Amino acid sequence: MPRKLGRPKERDVRELRRPVAAPERREEAQGEAQARPSGIRHAHAREAVEKMIRYTLAQHEGLRLLVLGDSRQGKSTFMNFLNSMLTAHVAAVFVHDAKYQVPQYRYDFKVRNLDELTPEHGGVIEVFDRPMTTTPNDIADLVCALGLQKTMTVCEVDEVMSVVGDNSRAFAGGESSRLAFLYKQGGGMGASVVVLAQLPQNVPVTILTLSQFVVIHRLSSKALAYCEKDCDLSDDAMTVAASLEPGQFIIHERGGDPWDRTIYTTPREFIVNR
Ligand SMILES: Nc1ncnc2c1ncn2[C@@H]1O[C@H](COP(=O)(O)OP(=O)(O)OP(=O)(O)O)[C@@H](O)[C@H]1O
Ligand SMILES: [Mg+2]
Repeated sequence: MPRKLGRPKERDVRELRRPVAAPERREEAQGEAQARPSGIRHAHAREAVEKMIRYTLAQHEGLRLLVLGDSRQGKSTFMNFLNSMLTAHVAAVFVHDAKYQVPQYRYDFKVRNLDELTPEHGGVIEVFDRPMTTTPNDIADLVCALGLQKTMTVCEVDEVMSVVGDNSRAFAGGESSRLAFLYKQGGGMGASVVVLAQLPQNVPVTILTLSQFVVIHRLSSKALAYCEKDCDLSDDAMTVAASLEPGQFIIHERGGDPWDRTIYTTPREFIVNR
């Protein structure tokens, strides 16, 4: 047996067990730390979402919220969480979901179209039919009309592509569409609107610029570049948003304080089972 393959001496074993790779690993870790912005905090989402609601609905103003994120990053889970709190403040949340063949939201009632609504309906109401006959504009109309009667409700649209033309940033029906009206004037009526989108490049500018809050789940850097200016995102916010885990998000508050350098996590119990 060549001497080299003989049983190693204990001293050599100790030498081997020493973390020889440690300096390299440290270097790697330092590299990562440099790439990641410093001073980032983690927090549960409840307090931040309550703050959004307090600032808007509790003062009888409408909430205008945009929720962004790549596919499967927790947008619908976030909405279930938001809805669980919204229903304490509003008479109804109307969910328009054009994406899936089965409802993916937790709802109190499900109607196929708005004609089916009765005064007994309330809480989270999923408007769900295949093919969808109700448009987000129909719901926007209803939410504004109810707002004029001092009944606060919310129009929620899962996938803004259902209201925009082919890959354009304009509303179908133009800026005079009823959803655009809800964005521009709804606040004064106590009417609220929440819009979800995978691609910021498809979000009409009215929605990007008039949302009081933008909740951003993980988005590719390329996608983020489309909302960087409109959402006034800092470099650090862009870096963090591109590396979030499912269920994590950051919040951009329009015209508010600078980014709070916090990564929020939606409680797992709100994950949608599909
Ligand atoms: N808070 C969370 N914690 C851990 N995992 C989560 C969380 N939220 C979502 N996920 C994971 O991400 C998956 C997708 O979540 P969800 O359906 O909410 O995403 P989405 O962005 O709405 O997706 P889609 O674009 O397909 O509509 C969940 O099935 C779950 O595995
Ligand atoms: Mg979803």
